[in-house]
Amino acid sequence: MGAETPRAAAPLGLAVLGSTGSIGEQTLDVVRTHPDRLRVVALAAGRNVERIVAQAREFGPEVVALADAAAAETAARELAGQCEVRAGWEAIEELGSLASAEAHVIAITGIAGLRPMLRAIDGGRLVAFATKEPLVAAGELILEHARRSGARLAPIDSEISALWQCLGGERAGGNVTQLLLTGSGGPFRSWPEERIAAASVEDALAHPTWKMGAKITVDSASLMNKGLEVIEAMRFFGLAEDRVRVVIHPQSVIHSMVEFVDGSVLAQLGRPDMRLPIQYALLQPDRPANAFDHLDWTTLRELTFEEPDPLRFPCLRLAFEAAHAGGSAPTVLNAANEVANAAFLAGRIPFGGIAAAVEHAMGLMPARPIESLSSVEDVDRLARGLAEAYIAEVGTRGEGSVQ
Ligand SMILES: NC(=O)c1ccc[n+]([C@@H]2O[C@H](COP(=O)([O-])OP(=O)(O)OC[C@H]3O[C@@H](n4cnc5c(N)ncnc54)[C@H](OP(=O)(O)O)[C@@H]3O)[C@@H](O)[C@H]2O)c1
Repeated sequence: MGAETPRAAAPLGLAVLGSTGSIGEQTLDVVRTHPDRLRVVALAAGRNVERIVAQAREFGPEVVALADAAAAETAARELAGQCEVRAGWEAIEELGSLASAEAHVIAITGIAGLRPMLRAIDGGRLVAFATKEPLVAAGELILEHARRSGARLAPIDSEISALWQCLGGERAGGNVTQLLLTGSGGPFRSWPEERIAAASVEDALAHPTWKMGAKITVDSASLMNKGLEVIEAMRFFGLAEDRVRVVIHPQSVIHSMVEFVDGSVLAQLGRPDMRLPIQYALLQPDRPANAFDHLDWTTLRELTFEEPDPLRFPCLRLAFEAAHAGGSAPTVLNAANEVANAAFLAGRIPFGGIAAAVEHAMGLMPARPIESLSSVEDVDRLARGLAEAYIAEVGTRGEGSVQ
């Protein structure tokens, strides 16, 4: 009898939560690239019917879920006989326990991703998360759920993925001196303070190196995104905030670095293309070949580094303060920032008002311990209320940024 050829493993069944967004679409591109390794079993999003229907027709999932009931009704008509369409928040959360989903991609912006992420973690499988806000607002809770269920957490955020790759997929041990989180510095890197405070929505959305959803693009301009990543990295790798450092690196080629006690520094480099960390999160430790553009060493002339300026970028300072205070402080930071970011995008406050609103909420809510999902949600609700009231008051007075 001849030797049996080993059978190729079946493609991993993926539930993509936030499929219509920037990370969701790029995840589906990774699936297109590796149909032998990945298949889509569920898609979920907020309200973008046109995109999710097109995605469902291409990828043939079992289930599609939309948070918006009217959008779900339209999708159900369009996809009749092709797949099941579910409506509402609970439907998205329930995808966390869909039997055929062997891995979940969490790419729903903001704290809205928290409950679906926890549910997916409770399923004990692979949870690849791009959404950073849940880890910031409820880090201990998420890690505790993962410890209990045995779920494997895989970061998609390029900086956290870079650190994870440099650390060989482990948490940081005693031989790590510091994590060096790189950031492009955003569109306002070289702008003076007054010009940043008065920047327009269009200015803030003009990111120099990455193309992303609106919320994270504004966070990148204020450096709040870097601050959220500092907290995400502390939580995920188990280090105090004084061992996480931010380095401005305008070329976005080095995605982050780890310094060890012997003085060695490991860095992960690549083109600014989120499909790389998405592919790694889903298929690690394998690194299958793809047709994505690679770094071109013949045109790469320089890699430069700068210290971030906490005076011109107060959101970064506030994030370090929240990280240092611990407990509920990062939850407050995140909630107030979500409200202020949306208010800026809606034209209700100037750019400088984002940090002012966050500082206001943090000042009124001293850190306290966070023990449960309900305490995270209580703190989140209170902080949103304080930020919203502040924004409304500033708007009434016709001001933008109050110190
Ligand atoms: N984009 C990047 O390069 C990047 C890099 C690192 C980390 N991240 C993180 O990944 C997350 C997603 O970012 P993104 O740039 O992909 O955002 P995005 O383009 O704005 O997409 C957000 C996705 O979430 C869905 N969504 C938003 N609010 C929702 C709600 N209340 N209920 C249900 N679905 C909702 C949207 O659905 P509809 O549009 O259909 O309403 C969309 O599918 C963020 O947390 C971000 O910080 C992004």
